[in-house]
Amino acid sequence: MFTQFFGLKYNPFSKELDINDAYESSDILELNSRLKYMQSSRGIFLLIGEPGTGKSTALRRFTSSLNPGLYKSCYFTLSTVTVMDFYRGLLIALGETPSHKKVTMFHQIQEAICSYYYDQKITPVIMLDEVQLVSNSILEDLRLLFSFKMDSQNPFILILSGQPQIRSKLSLSVNAPLKQRITIKHIMQGLKKEELEQYLTSRLKIAGLSDNIFTSSALEAIYSISKGIPRLVNNLATASLMYACSKKTHQIDEETVYQGQKDFDM
Ligand SMILES: Nc1ncnc2c1ncn2[C@@H]1O[C@H](COP(=O)(O)OP(=O)(O)OP(=O)(O)O)[C@@H](O)[C@H]1O
Ligand SMILES: [Mg+2]
Repeated sequence: MFTQFFGLKYNPFSKELDINDAYESSDILELNSRLKYMQSSRGIFLLIGEPGTGKSTALRRFTSSLNPGLYKSCYFTLSTVTVMDFYRGLLIALGETPSHKKVTMFHQIQEAICSYYYDQKITPVIMLDEVQLVSNSILEDLRLLFSFKMDSQNPFILILSGQPQIRSKLSLSVNAPLKQRITIKHIMQGLKKEELEQYLTSRLKIAGLSDNIFTSSALEAIYSISKGIPRLVNNLATASLMYACSKKTHQIDEETVYQGQKDFDM
């Protein structure tokens, strides 16, 4: 096993990331400052990024940073639920018993959000991931659901997160009312070229390896293939470690990266 060969406690590039160990890229820091602003302004936030750029990871990090005495966070992946499932799930997450009727659930959700915000002084933070997959009618439902006191108040934070196709969806005139209500957005860029080495070495270090095993030509190769997208960087790094292990070498150069990629067949 390559982990043993490199003296690693586990594969630091697997998807099982301890959220406290997530790398603080400049992208993440920029996103955090926008989310901080959202905490005071509330309303609707849009998070866009190519697959694997770290949107879901960033949402997990944001959730874990929130004080539960002040924020109630609810996370949903809309690709796997219908709007009824979403309403039900949201009501249960807000501590309510869902009715069987959609229209009643709609009012229940609005009342529960108001009760959290105005009575308990807790801001509900509702995160909807994979929004690029939802239909226009669900987007319209969302716009109505998150319209309070004739649209004059924002007793919630709603984060819509998804891949870039969401932009073309929001550009449709039918979705203009929702688009106009988005207060702030962030586009995930992935890692910058100058951050790649630190990202790789910090992940290896957390798993128990302090040596610098990637040569500068390997870093060039990883960046040119992955464009800094964390999921691709992780896949390439794992493939390179495996290939290096099979060749019994502890150093990863450009050739190892390309051979690893070939084996992985990305
Ligand atoms: N800041 C980070 N530090 C360490 N690993 C990260 C970081 N951001 C992302 N990753 C890793 O990259 C991979 C992809 O991240 P994530 O699933 O968050 O991407 P995504 O943008 O939600 O992708 P998709 O659009 O496919 O849902 C994950 O395995 C995650 O562990
Ligand atoms: Mg995701």
